[in-house]
Amino acid sequence: MSLPLPFSAPHASDDRAIVARYLHETALPESAEARIDATATRLIEAIRADAGAFGVEEFLREYSLSTREGLALMALAEALLRVPDAATADRLIEDKLGQSHFTTHEAKSEGFLVNASTWALGLTARILQPSDTPESLLGGLVKRLGAPTVRVAARQAMRIMGHQFVLGETIADALDRARSLEAKGYRHSYDMLGEGARTQKDADRYFKSYADAIEAIGRAAGNKPLPDRPGISVKLSALHPRYEATHADRVLTELVPKLTDLAIRAKSFDLNLTVDAEEADRLELSLDVIARVALDPRLEGWSGFGLAIQAYQKRAIDVIAFMDDLASLAGRRFMVRLVKGAYWDTEIKRAQERGLEGYAVFTRKAATDLSYLACAKRLLAARPRLYPQFATHNALTVAQILELAGDRTGFEFQRLHGMGDALYRAVTEGDKLPCRIYAPVGGHRDLLAYLVRRLLENGANSSFVAKVGDPSVPIRTLLTRPGVWLENGAAPTHPGIKAPVDLYGDRKNSMGLEFGDRQALSRLLTLMNEGVSPTLAATPLVEGKPIGSTPARPVVSPSDGARVGSVVEATPEEARAAMASAARAVRATRAWPV
Ligand code: FAD
Ligand code: 2OP
Repeated sequence: MSLPLPFSAPHASDDRAIVARYLHETALPESAEARIDATATRLIEAIRADAGAFGVEEFLREYSLSTREGLALMALAEALLRVPDAATADRLIEDKLGQSHFTTHEAKSEGFLVNASTWALGLTARILQPSDTPESLLGGLVKRLGAPTVRVAARQAMRIMGHQFVLGETIADALDRARSLEAKGYRHSYDMLGEGARTQKDADRYFKSYADAIEAIGRAAGNKPLPDRPGISVKLSALHPRYEATHADRVLTELVPKLTDLAIRAKSFDLNLTVDAEEADRLELSLDVIARVALDPRLEGWSGFGLAIQAYQKRAIDVIAFMDDLASLAGRRFMVRLVKGAYWDTEIKRAQERGLEGYAVFTRKAATDLSYLACAKRLLAARPRLYPQFATHNALTVAQILELAGDRTGFEFQRLHGMGDALYRAVTEGDKLPCRIYAPVGGHRDLLAYLVRRLLENGANSSFVAKVGDPSVPIRTLLTRPGVWLENGAAPTHPGIKAPVDLYGDRKNSMGLEFGDRQALSRLLTLMNEGVSPTLAATPLVEGKPIGSTPARPVVSPSDGARVGSVVEATPEEARAAMASAARAVRATRAWPV
């Protein structure tokens, strides 16, 4: 069997065209919108009335969101988690803060711990001020409370958070804790915490942890057929220390056998194995790996293999089409978890840092919500080749899916452990619709990255869980459709989020290249093969006009000495003159030919 062509789709298309298309594709008759209003209202009322809801929603309400010190405390907590004993921990604090004496105060334990959790939940970059550093913030804390108290509080903050978001420290604990929920109709997908392997040793450790977990989950799985069976979620970044587009050949040679090995183990127990979605620059590589594994003849007869797709990516719908083709080619069903996406802040920052042409993700939440609907519609239409798994904690999204799905079979919902408990008490325990719980398992050592994503998600004031937890937000606001936000004057592209190239206003950002984008890479390789245009010339510009009195100097490639262009260097006098005429008027010549 031959592979379908490698996946390729425009990395960062214009939001406006996509949004216009999706608005058209997802339009529903008024009667359907009225049913969605009724279902979503019922679910929201159930969430707000759920007295037993000790989810993060309540946690957030109880501990008011706050301050910059959270970031500093979490940074310290992460470091402290790697320290074996109390004395070393105190020395680490001293070392980090560059101070040798701390005033010791009595630990105001209860009040302090409450605050510690609050700080951690306030972990967002926007609350930091330019002058803040973890050292300055922690310095103040330690002066007030003493190093030992800060140490205890940081550990305690992590423990409180960990308990909220982690089902168990070991897979045995987690399987045990899952039993009562299974009796209520929930399924589980266990996630052995750990990602971003830095060394082969890390990757080997994570592989073993996945393999052992599959064995344990499989043995406890019972006799029901898929999809009503448990499963495991894996992250490819945990399984290879160089899981990057620039190491594609090595990744395909080394990672495909590892993932295939795990898939064969999962198949032997007929479990669901889902490959989590991570950063956008890894999307194409992940699909190269997934397609190879999916078509392995040793997996024939198994319909538990799958992946997660992020609706905030502009290529999401293309990924669904790719998986649909792959299912036809393989002649068996794949499971597809649709999420909105958990790495939004990272995606925006990385695109800016790299000076990319555009963003791989939408910049307005309403555009992501709309994309989720368009993707859901496409997934539902691909039943039974694909088994849609709708992962969301948003009651409006749930109601919209139910309307789109029609007969309510051939798909499931999913939620994260510690989130959406009240919503799914209504949907799963009340309405008897299947829900799988994504259940992280592990110790504090591997928790931080996962925890930070949950804190960002819960702390964002635009997120559904934050709004539903705030009784002052009227239900009708929660029912506002993405199309209404977008058509009532909200441009599909967020005006506050400039294109990466325009980040510095008048001065152009330096342009970079996304190696994870096959199309950009192939444009670059074509140019390299053709030889770069000799007209490429870099020269200093002041107020938009070229200056430079020195002769142009050839610029050659360090790898083979080939000439790539020329540069005129500014003299010190010219540089001073440029500074005097305001630095912002100095523009770098854009010499990158893409
Ligand atoms: P909402 O509040 O309706 O949506 C919040 C989401 O909107 C944000 O997370 C973000 O994606 C998007 N958003 C917010 N602001 C903007 C903006 N300005 N522009 C564009 N988009 C914006 N995430 C992954 O990345 N990979 C996974 O493999 C993955 N697995 C998951 C498994 C399960 C079972 C669940 C429940 C979630 C998983 N997630 C994963 C996390 C998921 O992406 C978030 O929980 C989800 O985005 C929250 O969406 P919502 O519908 O619950 O909430
Ligand atoms: C994450 O790790 C749930 O996969 C998602 O954030």
